Amino acid sequence: MNMHATTHEELHAELAGNFDTNAMAQDSALLNPRFYTTDFDELDAIDVTPVRAEWDKLLEQMKSDPNKGHFKKNADWDKVDWEGMDPKLRAEFIDFLVSSCTAEFSGCVLYKEMKRRGKNPDICELFNYMARDEARHAGFINDALREAGVAVNLGFLTKAKKYTYFRPKFIYYATYLSEKIGYARYITIYRHLEANPDQRFHPIFKWFREWCNDEFSHGEAFALLMRTDPKLTESFVNKLWIRFFLTAVYSTMYVRDHARPAFHEALGVDIDWYDQEVFRKTSTIAKQVFPMELDIDHPRWLPNLKRMERAFRKMEAAERSGGMGKAIGKLTAGAQAAYAFAALYLIPVKKSTPPASVRLEPSY
Ligand SMILES: [Fe+2]
Ligand SMILES: [Fe+2]
Repeated sequence: MNMHATTHEELHAELAGNFDTNAMAQDSALLNPRFYTTDFDELDAIDVTPVRAEWDKLLEQMKSDPNKGHFKKNADWDKVDWEGMDPKLRAEFIDFLVSSCTAEFSGCVLYKEMKRRGKNPDICELFNYMARDEARHAGFINDALREAGVAVNLGFLTKAKKYTYFRPKFIYYATYLSEKIGYARYITIYRHLEANPDQRFHPIFKWFREWCNDEFSHGEAFALLMRTDPKLTESFVNKLWIRFFLTAVYSTMYVRDHARPAFHEALGVDIDWYDQEVFRKTSTIAKQVFPMELDIDHPRWLPNLKRMERAFRKMEAAERSGGMGKAIGKLTAGAQAAYAFAALYLIPVKKSTPPASVRLEPSY
């Protein structure tokens, strides 16, 4: 990277040259946030009668729109020193923002499409509120990227990005988990920086507390949707799927976070500590609806996460090399990653019985 940029405009031009954020957001590599599509008619056919009382309460709260005015820059938005930021930190932070923005916008696209296609008033109302929230979240992150001159073109992304089809039940498991893990990630960073304000190197972290409450209630909505059909969380096969999604979501987060050492160092956060803390919070919350949690204190847990992380680094290195080395390197590293994943998946889970009343309030 050229270190001689002096003016704002020069820096913007340089960052734009170095970070093609549209390509980053569009990239559908295995670990990057995806866009989803599903069987919208099946989703639309859900009858929320079995959870009506809790449903109405949650929707009432979403309708009141507690974060209506929250996602706006105000006096708390200190000037960001993009010029003075260490280039390695800047690169990882931009990657963090782009991937967060893509993940938020992915929710927005899916929820908006459900609202557009649905006829069921309960479902349409819910997805309308959730799309509203995710659009704000993605837009707010994009404002931060815009200051660095590298905003993502979200309209373009809607058309250009590949969509992955998931059956509705997989949408429930994956989206429920990503909402709850999103809550746990945002609140853990927020609490850490509340105690260590000198490590808050960008103002966006100040917005995380109210922000994560949105994610929390989105997760609540999916918990209620799953409660409308006991089979979703109780049948033998679905329990295996839940276990699969827990393992996939947690291990993906681990590998992704470990690719950003400078970012976590700037925050003063040990990545292993942070990830375990986020897993712990998410697992505790997810017991509201899942009849199990992963045993993240098991002696095989961390070693296999580390093994998987190393395999992904090798895959990336092989990708960059050429010729036969590339094919062989990718194949062996891929097998190592699959082996590590299987080892994680096979760690015995801790079984539990979800409570009669599913609803929770944010408590961290
Ligand atoms: Fe969000
Ligand atoms: Fe959300």
